[in-house]
Amino acid sequence: MSRFNIITNLSREAIHVDKDSSIMQAFTDAGVEITSICGGKGKCGRCKIIIREGRVTPITNNEKDMLSTEEIERGIRLACQTKPLSDLKVEIPLESLILSQRLQTEGEEIKVEAEPIIHKVFLRLDPPTLSDPRPDLTRVINNINEKEIKRIDFILSKNISNILREKGWAFTLTLYGDEIIGIGSEINLGMAFDIGSTKLAAYLVDLDTGRTLDAIGFINPQVSYGDDIVSRISYAMEEEKKREELRRAIIKGINGMIASLCRRNKIEKEDISNITIVGNTVMHHLLLGLPVRHLGLAPYIPVLKESQDIKARDLGIDIMRGGYAYLLPLIGGYIGSDHVAMILATRLWENRKKVRIGIDIGTNTEIAFADEKKIVSLSCASGPAFEGYGIKQGVKAVSGAIDGVKIEDNDPVCSTIDNKPAIGICGSGILDAIAELYTSGAINEKGRLQESFPSVRRSSEGLEFILVKKEDSGINNDIVVSQSDISSILLAKAAIRAGISIGLKEIGRDDNEIKEIVISGAFGSYINPESAIKIGMLPKIDLRLIKQVGNAAGVGARLVLISKSERELANTIADNVRYVETCIHPDFTKIFARSMFLPKTKVE
Ligand code: FES
Repeated sequence: MSRFNIITNLSREAIHVDKDSSIMQAFTDAGVEITSICGGKGKCGRCKIIIREGRVTPITNNEKDMLSTEEIERGIRLACQTKPLSDLKVEIPLESLILSQRLQTEGEEIKVEAEPIIHKVFLRLDPPTLSDPRPDLTRVINNINEKEIKRIDFILSKNISNILREKGWAFTLTLYGDEIIGIGSEINLGMAFDIGSTKLAAYLVDLDTGRTLDAIGFINPQVSYGDDIVSRISYAMEEEKKREELRRAIIKGINGMIASLCRRNKIEKEDISNITIVGNTVMHHLLLGLPVRHLGLAPYIPVLKESQDIKARDLGIDIMRGGYAYLLPLIGGYIGSDHVAMILATRLWENRKKVRIGIDIGTNTEIAFADEKKIVSLSCASGPAFEGYGIKQGVKAVSGAIDGVKIEDNDPVCSTIDNKPAIGICGSGILDAIAELYTSGAINEKGRLQESFPSVRRSSEGLEFILVKKEDSGINNDIVVSQSDISSILLAKAAIRAGISIGLKEIGRDDNEIKEIVISGAFGSYINPESAIKIGMLPKIDLRLIKQVGNAAGVGARLVLISKSERELANTIADNVRYVETCIHPDFTKIFARSMFLPKTKVE
């Protein structure tokens, strides 16, 4: 098969590409991650590249749909639609690259006594003799004080005789329930994982003290198959081989984080005996290699929802050979174990004479409502706008993204991540921008831009507000908020506000009875709650009643790693939460339509 070389603006090293592969495929194989929402189907227009030299296949209909005439004239193509016909020189524009993202790993800790699930026991044994010919395992088990130990991990049993003799009959055992799962490692460590659709977080935990020793965040390697979960469901549904590809991608991410944490902390993988994993239902199923077909079709039924306790090696996860992976229970098709972990970590059911609301904002926003009688959970389709998608110059929370906006004397003042020149606007920035546009009068209650307002101009696509001028930006272009950006955010905020109203209705309460709103998750950690109230995404309550707690799901995953009781509590939560299907709720359409407007009473 003939191959060509591609030189990009990122490196002098050539990337090799097979004649029949797309340029996107070649980038993915070479570890160059470029943005994709649609998983390479030519439907999102995110994987733009510029062909500087060389010949490529003719422009496709998808590209004609996704690119403007001006872009086509400038030589812009979609990497997923373009194949090489010769060696190439390709420029990857900054906005097409997946840059290092702001990854949320911290979460507000709660104090819970460690109740270790894994135990270490040191033994010094007399070697066998002709008068004491007990089998090696019997000799070990007879000397363990813990009576319930009855068996040994099957793979470990094949090596036990050699290990005992190599160690001179003095060794440390790792015990889990009634089983010996390891011999040799003396430190009691575990890891907790929060596997989001875009981001992964991992925590290294001392299982004896419950202390978190280190944490890292990674981009989910599945992102190259499509940023949104729906693309991944469609990809996995195409054939079993593709589902397996996605499974391997997430395992690769988990193993990568294990390797990094081990390296950073100078420990061996064999020291990690237990891990816990939380995530949304699709990520959970993809990790286990379960079919996701029915998660993509109404009524969105998961294969199973019970917690799973399995040998990590059976999943391909690289820890102690006999170690276990514990997956928290799910609630339903759209409410995963990350939600259970969030409820657990925020203790949402405590102090609830009034209503406490726990909310994790994302493409799907999950919300839990707790009062003294019950917990109700629902999910609303808030869409990817807060992730920067569907926004003309939207980007993720990467260096240079506008993350805060103020309008002072009719002039916008923007802050960016890392104080870099602006390259686009991320979720927290667009939320601020719309709140400020409304407060300053640049948009009306329906979100319509007012042409007479300074910085509002008319372009070929309609009205837009200039946030950053070309000369001040990092992309040699103006950065604007377009009328359609505003509509996308209003749709997203309406979905969330409608979800809150429906949840409150379901437990027979109203806005005045809210005792607290706890916002968790990466996006929620960075938003300005005041802006969220100004645009009517959150009810108008005292700002002091809103608490941003960071990655609560990650905290929940750590709680079930260090304590047996927390594991039981997580299962009780999953069994007792009542799931409400928002879109078939009789009041949904009415409430959603009402929530599209910006609040009548402006919050100054
Ligand atoms: S258009 Fe290429 S990845 Fe979506």
